[in-house]
Amino acid sequence: MKRILLRLINFGKKLPLVIKSIKKIYRYGGYTAINIASINYGEILKEKKVLITGGSTGIGLSIAKKSLQVGATVVITGRNDDKLKKAADEIKNPRLKTLKWDISQINQIEEGIKNTKLLLEGDIDILINNAGIVNSITFPNVTEEIWDKIYSINSKGLFFLTQTLCDQWMKEDKVQLKKIINISSQGGFVGATYPYRMTKWDISGLTQGLGIKLAPHGIIVNGVAPGIIATKMQPNYHAQEDNVFCSLNPLKRIAMPTEIAELVVFLMSDAANFIVGQTILCDGGYSIK
Ligand SMILES: NC(=O)c1ccc[n+]([C@@H]2O[C@H](COP(=O)([O-])OP(=O)(O)OC[C@H]3O[C@@H](n4cnc5c(N)ncnc54)[C@H](OP(=O)(O)O)[C@@H]3O)[C@@H](O)[C@H]2O)c1
Repeated sequence: MKRILLRLINFGKKLPLVIKSIKKIYRYGGYTAINIASINYGEILKEKKVLITGGSTGIGLSIAKKSLQVGATVVITGRNDDKLKKAADEIKNPRLKTLKWDISQINQIEEGIKNTKLLLEGDIDILINNAGIVNSITFPNVTEEIWDKIYSINSKGLFFLTQTLCDQWMKEDKVQLKKIINISSQGGFVGATYPYRMTKWDISGLTQGLGIKLAPHGIIVNGVAPGIIATKMQPNYHAQEDNVFCSLNPLKRIAMPTEIAELVVFLMSDAANFIVGQTILCDGGYSIK
């Protein structure tokens, strides 16, 4: 009798936790936990100067953190000063520089590159084309305004920044490799019915095209195509760190931005120098299901 009573008391103590877990499972439709490991790359990017577009939050910020850890000097950009300041306050590293720069403003690209070089105190070695925005209005309801807004950043801004920087690189007497990593999406590998996904197809196509065109010039271009990542771009999943369940891919989970940063830093490093024009999918199997 006493033992049963003790068990009941113990269960009572655990009850709030049990209820909390059941609520979480009910809310997300299932439960998946993750264990994320990080590779210690040492100082694999020592003395590398890196430009990350849209690095004030999410995936770009995670790439910035990992790049700094492995020795790089990094400029992150964004349209919003407060977000950039928040990122700098969080990271607190003198090798992190911030630059307010809207990459959709094509006539500001030259100036943006010039300011980046001033902040880096030298040439850019690696460009991470990460800035992007999303939309969910799909065919047949897409307006010209939505189309233009998405394309101006995700596709046009990325293209002209890349073209301007590569043009400068190709005119220099280079002694070391330059690198570009383009952030596409799992949506760039499955059928597309809305501008966001179509821009991500653009990006993986451009990665392949420029991979071939620029390799003879000592510029290596690759890409990463993330699946659903817990960032502000995914408001439904953003706060879901304690239960990463997601029914949409075979792994039944979303990923954390650090998991993308891990892969991007590998591609940025000289350990990946024979990989050319590839967009590596990191999507829990979404695109092959
Ligand atoms: N999260 C996902 O599930 C997912 C999946 C696949 C691919 N991706 C891609 O990953 C990249 C990063 O997204 P995220 O998930 O990290 O989203 P996020 O947290 O919203 O970050 C987007 C970043 O881009 C910046 N940005 C947006 N427009 C810009 C512009 N015109 N010029 C300069 N910076 C700009 C934002 O800062 P400001 O707002 O201050 O400009 C912010 O720093 C995007 O290309 C996205 O398409 C994300």
